[in-house]
Amino acid sequence: MATAWRSRLRFRERWPLQYYRCYYQLPADLVMLCWLIMMAFLLVEEAQGDDCCAWNGVVCHNRTGRVRVAELNLQNPNGTEEETTLRGELLHPSLLSLTHLRNLNLRFNDFERTQIPPLVGSLHKLSYLDLSWSNLSGIIPPHLGNLTNLRHLDLSTSNLGGTIPPHLGNLTNLHHLDLSWSKFSGTIPPHLENLTNLHHLDLSDCNFSGTIPPHLGNLTNLHHLDLSDNSNLYFPKDGHSLDWLSGLSSLIYLDMSFLDLSNASHNFLSTINMLPSLQQLNLCFCSISNIPLSLNFHLNLTSLTTLDLSGNIFTSSFPNWLWNLTSLSSLQLKESQIGGKLPIEIGNLISITYLDLSLNLLSGPLPDTLSKLKHLTYLDLSYNLLGNSLPMGIMNLSSLSTLRLINWSIPHSFGNFSTMISTSNEQLPSFEVLEMGQDTYPIYSGSESITLITKGDQFTFSSILYLVKSIDLSNNELIDEIYEEFRYLAGLHALNLSRNYFKGTR
Ligand SMILES: *[C@@H]1O[C@H](CO)[C@@H](O)[C@H](O)[C@H]1NC(C)=O
Ligand SMILES: *[C@@H]1O[C@H](CO)[C@@H](O)[C@H](O)[C@H]1NC(C)=O
Ligand SMILES: *[C@@H]1O[C@H](CO)[C@@H](O)[C@H](O)[C@H]1NC(C)=O
Ligand SMILES: *[C@@H]1O[C@H](CO)[C@@H](O)[C@H](O)[C@H]1NC(C)=O
Ligand SMILES: *[C@@H]1O[C@H](CO)[C@@H](O)[C@H](O)[C@H]1NC(C)=O
Ligand SMILES: *[C@@H]1O[C@H](CO)[C@@H](O)[C@H](O)[C@H]1NC(C)=O
Ligand SMILES: *[C@@H]1O[C@H](CO)[C@@H](O)[C@H](O)[C@H]1NC(C)=O
Ligand SMILES: *[C@@H]1O[C@H](CO)[C@@H](O)[C@H](O)[C@H]1NC(C)=O
Ligand SMILES: *[C@@H]1O[C@H](CO)[C@@H](O)[C@H](O)[C@H]1NC(C)=O
Ligand SMILES: *[C@@H]1O[C@H](CO)[C@@H](O)[C@H](O)[C@H]1NC(C)=O
Ligand SMILES: *[C@@H]1O[C@H](CO)[C@@H](O)[C@H](O)[C@H]1NC(C)=O
Ligand SMILES: *[C@@H]1O[C@H](CO)[C@@H](O)[C@H](O)[C@H]1NC(C)=O
Repeated sequence: MATAWRSRLRFRERWPLQYYRCYYQLPADLVMLCWLIMMAFLLVEEAQGDDCCAWNGVVCHNRTGRVRVAELNLQNPNGTEEETTLRGELLHPSLLSLTHLRNLNLRFNDFERTQIPPLVGSLHKLSYLDLSWSNLSGIIPPHLGNLTNLRHLDLSTSNLGGTIPPHLGNLTNLHHLDLSWSKFSGTIPPHLENLTNLHHLDLSDCNFSGTIPPHLGNLTNLHHLDLSDNSNLYFPKDGHSLDWLSGLSSLIYLDMSFLDLSNASHNFLSTINMLPSLQQLNLCFCSISNIPLSLNFHLNLTSLTTLDLSGNIFTSSFPNWLWNLTSLSSLQLKESQIGGKLPIEIGNLISITYLDLSLNLLSGPLPDTLSKLKHLTYLDLSYNLLGNSLPMGIMNLSSLSTLRLINWSIPHSFGNFSTMISTSNEQLPSFEVLEMGQDTYPIYSGSESITLITKGDQFTFSSILYLVKSIDLSNNELIDEIYEEFRYLAGLHALNLSRNYFKGTR
């Protein structure tokens, strides 16, 4: 038995003689365990003694006087680090002697594109099975449907493909099902409707097609649902293609990014509004258009902290309901064809830390209320039509560490900016990244300052520079030598001067 196992594995280390004793003296169901541990050269190397039950990653139960292996945690402790991966074929038939195994974790190992053997379906007591990131291929054997005690099944990030066997619908105790980042295709099986204990369902980054089975809406315990990046999923234009969502009243996290929801544009918001616990909503690049400017219903989304609607088609100014989402800490609306001015109501979003409005058609001036966003750490206003005025209040945002203003005319206010910084001493902004636009012509000019000439105007950056940790001046037209000043930037960690035109040499 053991020999067969050994012959089908390539060990990275030589057979460790000191464990013969362990091998021969153990009760029957520990024999295989020893062999498995031998595979885990890391564990062997650490010379953990004769008692396998005391080894790292192993938990035994000894209820009836017979020792049983209950948990086997052979996850590569170093992520995908090659030095410490197990290699070989997964789960030789002899593994079946571990009939009392409850937890089996083989994450981050390399099973060299071999298949999940159907016999794994015989480990009836398994409640936790993690085979993710382990280079398995082939299909999910229907036999997995026999493991009715499973609560946690993770087969993500693999070369597994084919259709999902309906038998998984028998795993009614599942709380956690992750099939993401794999090659599964075909429809999402309606049988998943019976997995009513599911809290976490991740089917993202596969190749599922067809419609979403409406019965998914019966999974009322779901907290986390990720269907993103299955570009062949289809939402019919019948007015009901998102109705199933409204049943998921416990949902906290919803990601349907990169699905084509153009057919559901008219009611996506009223449907999402039925999810009162929602904290994170990612619907970027969903081809949603005609987003209403105002709503004729009350917005329930009081828990929403993260909203990403980037890459949709607003073709309008900002919808006014956005400013009712006062719990938001992250708002991403880049590349969304939003025009007009940023309204003063932006100041309502007092908890916001991350704001990306880049690649739109916004025009200036920006409202002074931006300076109310005291927690802002990241602000991206690149690629808009905002001209050159940055409200002075931005300088009082002491948390701001990244300000991206690519393709801007460098703001007139920057002149004052540097003045202010040199006069105020308490609340200095400490930018880590300051990115500035391609219409500017920063020119070397004497020590400890940079002069930028923008359309004839001239601004001096001097004392701000010592605060800057990273400067991105890429895509500008630098016409002289690399600045002497950069030598004096004590905090500088990164400097990007790519795509410029340098005349001088260093
Ligand atoms: C298991 O339990 C029995 C009785 O409780 C005890 O005699 C035996 O030493 C235990 N075995 C191990 C390996 O702990
Ligand atoms: C694996 O990680 C541990 C700490 O997490 C480290 O001590 C060890 O050196 C790492 N081993 C390899 C081979 O990277
Ligand atoms: C997966 O296994 C195949 C076949 O052994 C091998 O060529 C490939 O490099 C492996 N991939 C990873 C990510 O380990
Ligand atoms: C497990 O499931 C397969 C396919 O669904 C079935 O043929 C087999 O009899 C089952 N085996 C056991 C041991 O239950
Ligand atoms: C499991 O599911 C399959 C397909 O849905 C079904 O044919 C089979 O009878 C089920 N097995 C058990 C043991 O419920
Ligand atoms: C769900 O479970 C019920 C009851 O066990 C069964 O009748 C039904 O066929 C199952 N549905 C699917 C789609 O498997
Ligand atoms: C994805 O699924 C479609 C069928 O829906 C198929 O034509 C296509 O080849 C699949 N793509 C990949 C990469 O498997
Ligand atoms: C599941 O949802 C469908 C409609 O979405 C409904 O007709 C069916 O009765 C539900 N089943 C259960 C068991 O709740
Ligand atoms: C939208 O609905 C129409 C009609 O039902 C259908 O032909 C089309 O493929 C759908 N588009 C998407 C992206 O689902
Ligand atoms: C949310 O808003 C909708 C539409 O205004 C309303 O019908 C519903 O009762 C509200 N509450 C919940 C918990 O969905
Ligand atoms: C937004 O908040 C205002 C003030 O609290 C309220 O009058 C308005 O009805 C809210 N809008 C929505 C769509 O809930
Ligand atoms: C910045 O803060 C200081 C001190 O709180 C205040 O005096 C000043 O008016 C503020 N500047 C702007 C432009 O808001």
